[in-house]
Amino acid sequence: MKISSETKVNMVIGDPINHSLSPLIHNAGYEAIGIDSDFVYVACRVGINRLASFVEGIRAMNILGVSCTIPHKVWIMQYLDFIDEIAKKIGAVNTVVNDNSTLHGYNTDWLGVVGPIEKLTSLSGKAVAVVGAGGAARAAAYGVVQKNAKLTIFNRTVSKAEELATEFGGDALPLESLDEIKKMDVIFNATSVGLKTDDETPIPQDLIQPGQIVFDAIYTPLETRLLRESKLQGAITIHGLEMLLAQGAAQFELYTGHEAPLSVMRAVLENKLGKK
Ligand code: ATR
Repeated sequence: MKISSETKVNMVIGDPINHSLSPLIHNAGYEAIGIDSDFVYVACRVGINRLASFVEGIRAMNILGVSCTIPHKVWIMQYLDFIDEIAKKIGAVNTVVNDNSTLHGYNTDWLGVVGPIEKLTSLSGKAVAVVGAGGAARAAAYGVVQKNAKLTIFNRTVSKAEELATEFGGDALPLESLDEIKKMDVIFNATSVGLKTDDETPIPQDLIQPGQIVFDAIYTPLETRLLRESKLQGAITIHGLEMLLAQGAAQFELYTGHEAPLSVMRAVLENKLGKK
């Protein structure tokens, strides 16, 4: 135990929070680069009705960094002193940095989408399908357009896809037109279909084409039905773990000022999520 009175506290808040993997990856990162006496990362369950007093607590206790997950990403914005332009555009903050009681809000979720894709190919000029129109889809839509790719949003409720397409710049289609996904270079699943089950997929297997990049935001299970079938079709797959890792790595850097040790952080995640 290297914690002392000098140790700075970072945390993730949400409700529920007990399954969060953020403490695992951040603390493993601190240990790997020898800054585990400087920083510690914990998780706190904070109910939505306690959010205002929690934010006062950030200042009162001089907590350094706060990662926000459901349901706080949108509501916390009203309590912050500054919100970065990207987070404003996405409409959500997943990262708060306390600079001497001045609270800055950021969004690193979009980096969790574009980072892993751009390790494989440049997004510029590519046709990208985002399936879904919730919070994860918003971050993805922002990132895709930011990287000069051509965005098509597919959603069960087409009006929500249309709203996103108008806001970020792109096309909107209902799931009845999912055939169009065959023409895409990259497919990002931002729906909850396939979460915690092995037998659901948002995209029929025969629509997936060889060479397409298929990225699932879901990481439980690690190998979703969508990714399993995409592999069988000859597509290149990206696990949801990569999104979790990339957005967490960007937070790590904002909180500590150190580059995140990605390989160590990936290894603890894979170990926890059961990658063979
Ligand atoms: P998050 O904020 O985590 O992205 P969300 O806001 O709950 O999650 O969004 C979930 C997405 O999954 C939505 O786009 C939802 O479609 P609707 O907008 O039509 O509700 C999509 N979704 C959930 N269950 C679905 C299902 N069975 N079939 C197709 N889409 C589904």
